Amino acid sequence: MSRNPKSPAAANPTSIRDRSIVLVGLMGSGKSTVGRRLAGRLGMRFADADDEIERAAGMTIADIFERFGEAHFRDGERRVIARMLAGKPMVLATGGGAFINPDTRALILRDSLCIWLDADIATLVERVGRRSHRPLLKNRDPAEVLRELAAVRNPIYAEAHLRISSASTPHDHTVRAILEALSKWEDPQWNS
Ligand code: S3P
Repeated sequence: MSRNPKSPAAANPTSIRDRSIVLVGLMGSGKSTVGRRLAGRLGMRFADADDEIERAAGMTIADIFERFGEAHFRDGERRVIARMLAGKPMVLATGGGAFINPDTRALILRDSLCIWLDADIATLVERVGRRSHRPLLKNRDPAEVLRELAAVRNPIYAEAHLRISSASTPHDHTVRAILEALSKWEDPQWNS
């Protein structure tokens, strides 16, 4: 757990509750579970951007990909995230590709404190294996897909303000690691 040295511009909140916290990272990194628990601990609202997209579209993400294609999905994803970040501060879990879109990334970096949940491929494979709703993993070997995505995406996730390991430890450990990092975030040395 560390402040991310590659982050170009650290968020500078007077208090962590003044801005939304956005979780980014690959499929299976635990964004939704960790995000929900983190919101509970901070007394903040929680939302999952994927759920909001499905609600707004009235169809599942798999159906959006199949009927309209990924570009259409990314566009809706950017709009939904912009709407959520314009409201009261909250903890927001995003889909794995959201932060990769340059416009969505710029929005997240500007309007939130964003945290990359980073995990090794074996952990991710184990976690995504529990459910089979993800269009990018359909008909392909999840380990291969996740390795390819990690190679392309990890340098981009590294632009997040914080990087927290969500490896094979229980999600509650990850929540604790985030809370610890957030308490340091309020330290004057981080805000100078
Ligand atoms: C995607 C991740 C998914 C979902 C969509 C695309 C991606 O969300 O948004 O299937 O591009 O990595 P999770 O990361 O919550 O699985």
